[in-house]
Amino acid sequence: MTTIQRVGLLTSGGDAPGMNAAIRAVVLASTHYKIEVIGFKHGYNGLINQDFFKLNPQQVHGLINQGGTILKSARCKDFHHKNGLKQAANTLIKENIDALIVIGGDGSFNGLLALQQHWSGQVIGIPGTIDNDIDGTDHTIGFATAVNTAIDAIDKIRDTADAFERVFIVELMGRHSGQITFNVGIACAAEQVLSFENFNTTDKLARLNEIAKDIEQAQKTRQSSYIIVIAENLWPGGAHQLAIDLKQHSQTDCTACILGYIQRGGSPVAKDRIIATKMGVAAVQMLIENKSNIMIAEQNNALTTIALTTAVKHQKQVSNSLIAAQKNILAMSAQSGV
Ligand code: F6P
Repeated sequence: MTTIQRVGLLTSGGDAPGMNAAIRAVVLASTHYKIEVIGFKHGYNGLINQDFFKLNPQQVHGLINQGGTILKSARCKDFHHKNGLKQAANTLIKENIDALIVIGGDGSFNGLLALQQHWSGQVIGIPGTIDNDIDGTDHTIGFATAVNTAIDAIDKIRDTADAFERVFIVELMGRHSGQITFNVGIACAAEQVLSFENFNTTDKLARLNEIAKDIEQAQKTRQSSYIIVIAENLWPGGAHQLAIDLKQHSQTDCTACILGYIQRGGSPVAKDRIIATKMGVAAVQMLIENKSNIMIAEQNNALTTIALTTAVKHQKQVSNSLIAAQKNILAMSAQSGV
């Protein structure tokens, strides 16, 4: 057991619903163990620019249901350079910070690992990103809310698509991972799910042929809506370009819709509030147990920890069973003509 007196806390990278709930949990747990919490603002920039304030339990009251992050967030370019890392380490030393908890994604954890070349305090990561692409944890904070927000939006788009018997192409976030796309695609009964894991864009013409054929076939058999969900960064030029390409290729009319940042905001759903709370408390307890260089994770509904180096090694893959589930239900739906 160590005697930690001051812990630094920051949120880094894309904000995610539930980050505030995690901040609340870290502050309440730390206060319980008589540890002072210093919140650094704007991600790692707060360390470099000495932009921080003391967090107390009063400040986190009413925070559990708020989207965004009261600590603000940022992607910090200076943290890719030795100077930035040294400045950050100097702030931590000067402010007598014993440990640092970072809520963020894999980029943020790489920053945490790099910081250790210049600072010897304890470090703990809490996975917070809507992308759910961090290896070693079944869930990241924010993913469940983002999926639900996208489902809600597409259900509404479906009404218009049904009314006009129209084809929509809806672009979803996820950077280079199809976790959001596959989950939302299944949950919205999308007629096509196009993502990195099941769709190769190297032969664009062949792909356009396939998509156009499927749309044509579906509209022949049932006069209804047709929704394609597509992962961002998959089709060169995105959903709008795919709509243009389909029109040029086969006169197929599609309406493109990019859901974008609405997926990052909003009040966190139950799942995100609960894992954020559990992970925030666990992070503080791990510090007290003298653990460092770990990420708090959830596996099979139980909390665990994994080495930060393992968490950042590979991007988490979409499971084969999820990909198969989407493929199977689509085939069943086509077979039954609905
Ligand atoms: O990592 C979360 C995420 O929202 C990704 O889904 C998306 O690709 C990216 O962040 C957008 O980043 P930025 O906020 O820097 O535009």
